[in-house]
Amino acid sequence: MVDLLLGLQWGDEGKGKIVDVLTKDYDIIARFQGGPNAGHTLEFDGIKHVLHTIPSGIFHDNALNVVGNGVVIDPVIFKKELDNLGKFNIDINAKLLISRKAHLILPTHRLLDAASEASKGKAKIGSTLKGIGPTYMDKTGRNGMRVGDLEFDAWKKKYRALANKHEAMIDFYDVDIQYDLKELEADFFDAVKELKKLKFIDSEEFIYTSMVKGKKILAEGAQGSLLDIDFGTYPFVTSSNTTAAGACTGLGIAPGKIGRVFGIFKAYTTRVGSGPFPTELFDQDGETMGRVGNEFGATTGRPRRCGWLDLVALKYAVQINGVTDLMMMKGDVLSGFKTLKVCTSYKYKGKEISHLPYNIEPEYVTPVYKEMKGWAKDLTQLRSESEFPAELNEYIAFLESELNVPIKIVSVGPDRTQTIHR
Ligand code: GDP
Ligand code: IMO
Ligand code: MG
Repeated sequence: MVDLLLGLQWGDEGKGKIVDVLTKDYDIIARFQGGPNAGHTLEFDGIKHVLHTIPSGIFHDNALNVVGNGVVIDPVIFKKELDNLGKFNIDINAKLLISRKAHLILPTHRLLDAASEASKGKAKIGSTLKGIGPTYMDKTGRNGMRVGDLEFDAWKKKYRALANKHEAMIDFYDVDIQYDLKELEADFFDAVKELKKLKFIDSEEFIYTSMVKGKKILAEGAQGSLLDIDFGTYPFVTSSNTTAAGACTGLGIAPGKIGRVFGIFKAYTTRVGSGPFPTELFDQDGETMGRVGNEFGATTGRPRRCGWLDLVALKYAVQINGVTDLMMMKGDVLSGFKTLKVCTSYKYKGKEISHLPYNIEPEYVTPVYKEMKGWAKDLTQLRSESEFPAELNEYIAFLESELNVPIKIVSVGPDRTQTIHR
């Protein structure tokens, strides 16, 4: 069986931290979608690590890490990630395996991302500009280049033809994008050389045989359910399926082989980039969440928008993913709020509804809140549930009763040790 760990909001829930915490119980950690748009933060022994493409199990000796077929890889960013890991004495060649079917992000994909965003003006998606959308477009358009192509001599020809086509497309956008492709290509070819030193595998075969041997596998999601290409707040989404089904296509796992589904959420909500966000705060409370929670994008450094927990959206994500276990992150950030608000339904076109409607733009949706008493206690030093303030217990009990799924982990700080199992 393969267990999944998925973000239930708009990303940055704390997936990297929890995958790192859980890795001791698994033999294989596998990424199944997304790419360097992700920024997964892990903290232990006083050091903070940010991973973009490499799975968050890489710091453990026992686990193999697989970059699955559903992931898109930018060799240039990948090389930087490997360079950053250089000083930690990790046997990368033994522990990191790359799917031949994973698609490659070319320098011109990044430029196309920038051109597309520039052409949209105010209506831009707020993409991370890592070339994610254009690369998945080439994948589904059947023009893409894959890691496995690098093992065949014809890859440079294929690269040239695709890059030339992209240049024509960039011209077509008719926006002012300055670039020196020669320079970008030099970095790209250099990075491809490094990538080729790693072990490429037929990952669906590897995952299958590992399962037959009884190995324990954890699939690590990127982004969050509300950024899913089908189920997210389209068009303000990413270009992959971030939900449970994405793990099946992104690794080659049969649906019946999915075991537990760990759904991870913040005790409040954040979003980075454009798009509707019904419970967003523009006041002192939102400012406090951002400051105390240090809410800045791990990939782009942009400030994250902050707001109250949205149970309408969270329920939707729990349903779509078939979540079996919940994990609540960053409860510590809410310490000191006198009153907490939780959105329990929406006023949608004048009617009160409790499911996520087609359109959640502010002109159609107004959140309806339940108010709860906050807690003053600092949670960051707590190590067991018995030390929880009564108001935190009430908050947790209310969420469990609304979502009908137990909250199994409560995280009270960024460090590995600030993790309470229930
Ligand atoms: P991911 O993309 O889901 O892996 O999440 P990110 O790494 O982008 O963002 C989560 C941020 O919150 C990181 O800076 C983490 O170090 C931090 N973090 C994770 N869990 C907690 C927590 O329980 N409390 C606090 N204060 N910070 C946390
Ligand atoms: P992790 O894995 C938060 C957002 C971008 C933008 C939209 C589309 O760290 O949770 P893209 O570059 O994918 O075309 O951008 O999706 N986005 C994320 N937001 N966390 C992420 O990843 C994200 N990856 C993409 O900000 O709004
Ligand atoms: Mg992140």
